[in-house]
Amino acid sequence: APLLTASPARALMDEQISISGRFLPPHQPVTVCARMHSEDGDLWESFSHYNTNANGCVNLSTDPSVGGSYVGCEPMGLFWGLQPAPGGRDGVSTEAPYVVHISLLEDHVSPSETLKDNGQSGELAASTVERFYMAPGVKRVEIRQNGVVGTLFLPPGPGPFPAMLDLWGMGGGLYEYRSALFASRGFASLSLAFLGHKDLPGPLNRINVGDKYFKVKGMQSELDAAICISFHSMTMSHFCVKHIHILIDHQFYISGTDNISCPLMYIVGEDDVNCSSDQNANQIEEALSAVGKAQLFTRLSYPGAGHLIEPPYSPNVRTSLWWGGHPALHAAAQEDAWKKMLDFMDTNLRG
Ligand SMILES: *[C@@H]1O[C@H](CO)[C@@H](O)[C@H](O)[C@H]1NC(C)=O
Ligand SMILES: *[C@@H]1O[C@H](CO)[C@@H](O)[C@H](O)[C@H]1NC(C)=O
Ligand SMILES: *[C@@H]1O[C@H](CO)[C@@H](O)[C@H](O)[C@H]1NC(C)=O
Repeated sequence: APLLTASPARALMDEQISISGRFLPPHQPVTVCARMHSEDGDLWESFSHYNTNANGCVNLSTDPSVGGSYVGCEPMGLFWGLQPAPGGRDGVSTEAPYVVHISLLEDHVSPSETLKDNGQSGELAASTVERFYMAPGVKRVEIRQNGVVGTLFLPPGPGPFPAMLDLWGMGGGLYEYRSALFASRGFASLSLAFLGHKDLPGPLNRINVGDKYFKVKGMQSELDAAICISFHSMTMSHFCVKHIHILIDHQFYISGTDNISCPLMYIVGEDDVNCSSDQNANQIEEALSAVGKAQLFTRLSYPGAGHLIEPPYSPNVRTSLWWGGHPALHAAAQEDAWKKMLDFMDTNLRG
């Protein structure tokens, strides 16, 4: 009987899953389809068309897709290509695993339409994978203390751990999943809200926390490393941090480019329609060069990538629809940037 394998069956969000089908008729068209329910219960779906080889096998790690949610060889395309089925909303769960149902269907079909038309799925084989941001043993601690609004993620084990502060941009709110994944990779990570959260001083659309807010107790030592993703100076100009929007670092407090004395990684999506982070990167690089600190600056610049450069293999529909970028190039950028960010932090925070 046809067999569909997806392994590992349980994996962190940033791990590759290898999917293959066997015991199929040779040289036959098949569709591989992924479905999951978001935190809100909405259905997300992706699918792709393949042709089995002479041995009746299909291997998503090496074979090209000829149609569907993506084309070409994209081993993780079913995951980053997930899109809400019509009417579905966007939702990201930090704690619950994403349960993705993968099925192998006869012929080159569009799965939701096939289901709608004849109520039959033509499913030849199926498999399920669980993907999660929080590795087993990672602790999640909500912080509402002395006006601080955030969530701390601690890796398993006794520590001590290198620490980082994870900040999102001017969209506001409290996003936890990236911090959870960093903790899964061994970093104590604090997601800190500074705008657009009901527990912060209002109004919701203005930063009203004051400079001292970022001097989190216990995190006042020198900055060891900083990573900026798609930073746009203008949006932050009224903010305590005049020149740098640090998304990820050990401590959040820099008031001018001259003061930077730590390695700085700067990530640019070249197809970012929402800010010109490349220009800003140029400015910072020039300013650092002028004071003889060019060696502190690392730029990662990705053609075809949009604004929201997130952990890899997450559904990138949010990005490609609203923030620029080509889906496959954006997914490739996320994969590369994530590895380099982890290496950068390993080098600078564990040394
Ligand atoms: C699919 O291809 C990958 C990469 O070449 C390989 O590691 C894996 O074993 C293949 N899977 C199967 C079932 O042959
Ligand atoms: C940053 O450097 C400027 C001089 O270049 C200095 O006036 C300022 O106090 C410094 N700020 C911090 C936070 O060290
Ligand atoms: C980003 O810019 C595009 C094009 O100007 C705009 O349509 C979109 O709404 C913007 N997205 C966000 C989230 O601001």
